[in-house]
Amino acid sequence: MGVVKMTKALVLYHSQQHGNTGTMAEEIAEGLRSEGCEVTLHNANDERYPIEEYPLYDCVAFGTPDYFSYLAGTLKTFMDDWYIHRNEPGYQGKPYVVFYSHGGGGRVREALSLFSRVGTQVGESVESRGAPNQTVLDKCRALGSELAKASK
Ligand SMILES: Cc1cc2nc3c(=O)[nH]c(=O)nc-3n(C[C@H](O)[C@H](O)[C@H](O)COP(=O)(O)O)c2cc1C
Repeated sequence: MGVVKMTKALVLYHSQQHGNTGTMAEEIAEGLRSEGCEVTLHNANDERYPIEEYPLYDCVAFGTPDYFSYLAGTLKTFMDDWYIHRNEPGYQGKPYVVFYSHGGGGRVREALSLFSRVGTQVGESVESRGAPNQTVLDKCRALGSELAKASK
């Protein structure tokens, strides 16, 4: 019998004001788990992401609220930390997906290409205006499973 290595997925997000981005993160995680991934959720609002753990993961989902038409500062900090480590083993080339929430402007979408540094984007980014409705949650779950399938 062979040893089956589980795909490890990181869901790295910032959620603070209403929990909107956090609700989306949970659904992405469910989609990943439905395809057999082992998922770690990290809300960077709680603590700075420990960048030395990043190489442990096969794929990553990034989620941010729109803050002043940009990423939340904690995710910008993640990208700054990632850049410093980028030439070490395990930092480049991961499949990734993006999700975001906003209050009606949503211009953060123009800044999301920053994540393209880390690897190859899978699927379309999912957005929510305010609290995610069922359509948004279904899209999040589907995006999670799409990421899992792309990472096997
Ligand atoms: C500091 C701050 C700045 C914001 N700037 C914007 C903005 O420029 N455009 C926009 O559409 N929403 C903006 N919002 C609204 C949030 O993006 C929105 O409420 C989001 O869903 C919050 O996510 P969370 O509940 O996961 O923290 C801002 C909210 C905060 C707290």
